[in-house]
Amino acid sequence: MALWGGRFLGESDKFFKKFNSSLSFDYILAECDILASVAWSRSLVEACVLTESEQKRIESALLFLKQKILNNAKEILKSNSEDIHSWIEENLIKEVGDLGKKLHTGRSRNDQIATDLKLWCKNIIHVTLKNIINLQKVFVITASNNHNVIMPGYTHLQRAQPITFAYWCLSYLQMLKRDVSRLEDLLKRIDVSPLGSGALSGTAWNINRDKLALSMGFSSATNNSLDSVSDRDYVVELLSFASIGMMHLSRFSEDLIFFNSNEANFIELSDSITSGSSLMPQKKNPDALELIRGKCGRVYGSMISILVVLKSLPLSYNKDMQEDKEGLFDSMKTWNDCLSMASLILKNIQVNNQSCRKAAEKSYSNSTEIADYLVKKGIPFRKAHDISGKLVLRAIKEKKSLNDLDLSVFQKYSSVIEKDIYSNITLKACLEKRFSQGGVSPDQVLNEIQKEKNRLNII
Ligand code: ARG
Repeated sequence: MALWGGRFLGESDKFFKKFNSSLSFDYILAECDILASVAWSRSLVEACVLTESEQKRIESALLFLKQKILNNAKEILKSNSEDIHSWIEENLIKEVGDLGKKLHTGRSRNDQIATDLKLWCKNIIHVTLKNIINLQKVFVITASNNHNVIMPGYTHLQRAQPITFAYWCLSYLQMLKRDVSRLEDLLKRIDVSPLGSGALSGTAWNINRDKLALSMGFSSATNNSLDSVSDRDYVVELLSFASIGMMHLSRFSEDLIFFNSNEANFIELSDSITSGSSLMPQKKNPDALELIRGKCGRVYGSMISILVVLKSLPLSYNKDMQEDKEGLFDSMKTWNDCLSMASLILKNIQVNNQSCRKAAEKSYSNSTEIADYLVKKGIPFRKAHDISGKLVLRAIKEKKSLNDLDLSVFQKYSSVIEKDIYSNITLKACLEKRFSQGGVSPDQVLNEIQKEKNRLNII
């Protein structure tokens, strides 16, 4: 039985009923809906709609339903209720009879769904934060284990300047820290309860909305009911943050796919997260990373989808808004799965110190150091850059690295070059010189690792 039968003479079309129903996906809001319904029933006592004992009967029936759901959430799907709110009300009435019909006094499914969804978002944000912190820890530990592995850093996928594997790890740590800060910021905005907004203009009953808000774990109640039932900004924000978070994970995946390629051979992925080819016995494919990279697309899709659903939508509630859930639920599951998978992948990689170092040595990635050396000897940088470039050309011609050129060759290009050029352009020197804030110098990186270990309680 629908919650709105009275005004209707005809039956709903079967296909429309199915088309209109959200139960198959909003059933996961059951616990949030029960939490909000219990809080609402208590407010109804203060508003003199329910007696204390009626409220107690309603509350224990709701808690009984919660237990039933916890035991088997999918059981709900067997019913043909329109949505989770209807399912809970119908089942409450089955439990306590006509008394259950009093619970919806002064509230609407419009403020109910806005409240449930905010509660759900708050919960999933806390889960996501834990998963991000967990991945942060894996990055710090991996950095610590590989702090002296030198490898090439890239721009335009061309070897650019030497870095360390630890430094690469710590760059992702920064991204994950911003992901945390975005979610924490959203938690502040989401912490305002819409319950008591009614359909759109507030409730006609004497409800202390701030008190109601506090009882559900919110900090306060919203200020304008028309906005409260229309507002899905937090869904847009969460999906934007999920998109940014997935973008980070997709770049991480792409980097590792490349590092793991036969061409780079910087790392080896564990057998436990790779798969073979049905035809080519030699293959070990980075499926887990490719899936993370690929799954980024569906999260972006959900973000665009909610923005388009809400664009130009008139105030206040419109059924279009039921389309806010599937993309959100799917995206948050995807983001959390990918965070866990990224931890698993990183925990089990084998870093190939030798080939990382060789690639860094072969790459002329110390040519900036020659230019800087010349600058120190009084040559303007633009000119120094040109000399260094010519030396690179010469070294390429001689199939040598810069460090292997004879001093006489160096001096042909600039008379200020002396023997100390060699100690200035070693990989070690390249790294050590960059000790200013944020630079790649091993001391700086070790410092950073220690600071992060302290912050994350890693012993
Ligand atoms: N299932 C609906 C949704 O997810 C709940 C709100 C229904 N409100 C209404 N006025 N029909 O948006």
